[in-house]
Amino acid sequence: MSAPKIALLCASLRQGSINKKLESALEKRLVADGAEPVLIDLGDYDLPLYHGEIELPHSVKRLVLDLTACDGVIVVTPEYNGGLPPVLKNAIDWTSTFSTDHFTGPVWGLASCTPGPMSGIMCLRQLNYILMRVGTEVVPTQVGVGNAITAFDEEGHLVSEPSSSLAEKMIASLFLRIKQKAAIE
Ligand SMILES: Cc1cc2nc3c(=O)[nH]c(=O)nc-3n(C[C@H](O)[C@H](O)[C@H](O)COP(=O)(O)O)c2cc1C
Repeated sequence: MSAPKIALLCASLRQGSINKKLESALEKRLVADGAEPVLIDLGDYDLPLYHGEIELPHSVKRLVLDLTACDGVIVVTPEYNGGLPPVLKNAIDWTSTFSTDHFTGPVWGLASCTPGPMSGIMCLRQLNYILMRVGTEVVPTQVGVGNAITAFDEEGHLVSEPSSSLAEKMIASLFLRIKQKAAIE
């Protein structure tokens, strides 16, 4: 099997984002483990806030196709008030009105980074539930990174434990499930 294509989708659009930092650390791991990372920047899709009377924007179809073209998807998300950032929920809602191929085709993994110690677990739990509702297979190991300021080394590698080990385990699970799915398709 050729190198698995894994999309990295960050739900923070701001430049100095700690979740973008985590995304970049996971990208390094994916490359080291022999995968082909595909950066999906939600800002490039410029999705309007979902509204039942707005015609489906072309960018929704583009996002669905870009995700469906990958074997795996890793979402890296901040936690807002114990839940999902609106940019992520909006993308899930918009794309679900067009297709579920991007939810049911690739295997998904979840990660979150917070400045405080709680590591986004409330958001991860909700995201897991929502993705399950649209038929997604999410690997059981999720990567919560708390205390972001001490979690990365100077080169941007994720070094704090148990987050670093969880990242390794999540990537290994993604690879395994992608391989197993390819074998039966
Ligand atoms: C509206 C809002 C709500 C937030 N709620 C939480 C929260 O529930 N839990 C948490 O750990 N951090 C919370 N934070 C702090 C974010 O984790 C912090 O701003 C983080 O840096 C955002 O991620 P980013 O740097 O990737 O943009 C909140 C921030 C905002 C703006």
